[in-house]
Amino acid sequence: MAFCSFMSQSAGVKKASLFKPRSKERGETLSRTFMTLQQLIQRIKQKKELQDINDDFVKEQLLAYFKQNPRHRAILTAKLNPKSALTIKIIKSIRAQLRRVYGLFRSSDDPALDLSLIKKVAASASSERKKIIAAILQSHASTKERVSFYTELYRKIIAVTGKPTVILDLGCGLNPLSIPWMNLKRVAYHAYDLHEQEVIFLNSFFQVMKINGRAVVADISRSSVVSALPKADLCFVFKMTDIFDQGRGHKASEMVIRSVPARFVVVSFPTVTMSGKKMNFPRRKWIELLSRRLGYSYSVLEFSNEIFYVITKG
Ligand SMILES: C[S@@+](CC[C@H](N)C(=O)[O-])C[C@H]1O[C@@H](n2cnc3c(N)ncnc32)[C@H](O)[C@@H]1O
Repeated sequence: MAFCSFMSQSAGVKKASLFKPRSKERGETLSRTFMTLQQLIQRIKQKKELQDINDDFVKEQLLAYFKQNPRHRAILTAKLNPKSALTIKIIKSIRAQLRRVYGLFRSSDDPALDLSLIKKVAASASSERKKIIAAILQSHASTKERVSFYTELYRKIIAVTGKPTVILDLGCGLNPLSIPWMNLKRVAYHAYDLHEQEVIFLNSFFQVMKINGRAVVADISRSSVVSALPKADLCFVFKMTDIFDQGRGHKASEMVIRSVPARFVVVSFPTVTMSGKKMNFPRRKWIELLSRRLGYSYSVLEFSNEIFYVITKG
């Protein structure tokens, strides 16, 4: 089975302070040091909730920032003090962007990603395994509520799609841990996320559970990445459209739905607000209009706090 690897796995990045003089012998001072792109990336990642994010993704955000603010590129070529107002402004801006798409959902010392949990799964009898996995799923906001309806959800999805043999899971989070609820004997599962520690955790899970799966660090907001994914029957895009679109229409989500090489795409949305209130109108008209415009059909599955659109493309 061919798996894509779009981004380097953990780059073995030094966590040491960036702005230490390179050589004490040469007596370089902080203010005389040029800042490389890599140093800037590491400085941005010096926040607990951002430290497991993939370097290449941070680099892309920086390059996009410099494209919009070409004069700020000087930070890489001028002998700026690393504590200059410009440096701080850039770092703050990129961190805010990263938190919007990523950091909100993350903690680098996430107890759910402790590999000893996988060892616990490995050491337990198969009858006990689902209970331990359910506890891990329950520890995460996105998957927590689903534990009570995963069986029904997958049964209803498969009633529309038929039994899939290849599944993609974009921005997977911990959702791949729910594979035992799918009741599928033979399935190849490809999961993608930016979170490096999570990807390592999921790969250990696949190994222990003897699942034909692989998690990969990839930025699935890029069309070149999405269209090059392995051909699949079914693709999960759970709670991801706000991250793709960031309040700027729905072109980014449309790109993902159109480009992904899967006939069936399941897109989900929360139906409770951030403050926990049930939404009065949980349906997302835009995805219904988009599907009609593109000649796709869809079925709607509503659960207590999440709505799923099972889209059939062509
Ligand atoms: C709201 S959570 C959803 C997790 C999962 N889909 C679920 O519903 O259980 C968002 C996930 O998307 C990941 N993510 C955000 N932007 C991404 C990107 N551009 N490429 C890949 N993963 C991304 C985050 O790391 C996080 O795991």
